[in-house]
Amino acid sequence: TDLDAFITGLPKAELHLHIEGSLEPDLMFALARRNGVAIPYASVDEVRAAYDFGNLQDFLDIYYAGADVLRTRADFRDLAAAYFDRAAADGVVHAEIMFDPQTHTARGIPFADVIEGLLDAMADAQARHGMTSALIMSFLRHLSEEEAFATLAQAQPWLDHIIAVGLDSSELGHPPEKFARVFAAAAEKGLKLVAHAGEEGPPDYVWQALDLLHVDRIDHGNRALEDGALIDRLAAEGMTLTVCPLSNLKLCVVGDLADHPIDGMLELGLKATVNSDDPAYFGGYVADNYRAIAAARGLNKDDLAALARNSFTGSFLPADAVAGHL
Ligand code: HPA
Ligand code: ZN
Repeated sequence: TDLDAFITGLPKAELHLHIEGSLEPDLMFALARRNGVAIPYASVDEVRAAYDFGNLQDFLDIYYAGADVLRTRADFRDLAAAYFDRAAADGVVHAEIMFDPQTHTARGIPFADVIEGLLDAMADAQARHGMTSALIMSFLRHLSEEEAFATLAQAQPWLDHIIAVGLDSSELGHPPEKFARVFAAAAEKGLKLVAHAGEEGPPDYVWQALDLLHVDRIDHGNRALEDGALIDRLAAEGMTLTVCPLSNLKLCVVGDLADHPIDGMLELGLKATVNSDDPAYFGGYVADNYRAIAAARGLNKDDLAALARNSFTGSFLPADAVAGHL
């Protein structure tokens, strides 16, 4: 349709994408074969059937298990190259992608192999698609502060290639305050800061991300809408929220996309953006997310253009590059 073509053609940035969450079942099988890794599925259909999640933890258990097929620098390159190809086809011109080094270093994969493979694909995406990209190194919040510090230390030789640190994995019981010191250390090294907050966790976790972590963006942020003072704070600061509609549906953050608050966020003056989170697991890439939310909430072209504009103003691109995309 006309709106489909408009969405695909709309230049956009993707700001909330876990590269491990872009591992499609067919690549999972191919890498399992290439690396001689056993996986608990007989077919791609069986994999897809397992992607029925009641909450965030159900998803994370399967997501970490799937990542076990990723072993070599070439695997990380192939993974990211597949994502960049799909993103380019969706009209993404800039992508700030998260990776979870601890998921791999815990299995004995060298940090260097993970990041060098991703950097290979990023250079290739620039060359083949003219796409710019940046890396966000996410700490797993179910692990300790000490382990996050160790990961920051491992990243030291590549800090010029990392734009920001992030915070992901099991939210409930792992509040932002647990990582206040490591985020302060990352800021001191010149890194930007983002954190998942208010996906399953309460509004207080969003306050903590702002006041204790001093984040530059909030990933998700849905539950901020439960707290009027917090809404006012986020709006006053012009804080970007990286919202992920199909993720919210698959992880039961919303019961139905028809009840999704994306347009409500815009009406409240919040800088909401649309992102795919873990597209291989949640049923679609970024254009699918725009299409799904447009259909479910009756968004028009102006709304969609505002969301795309927010993706650039909320990005970590330099001001002149942002201006060039508006
Ligand atoms: N939330 C928390 N951790 C994650 C997610 C998410 O949506 N995706 C990958 N790790
Ligand atoms: Zn996420």
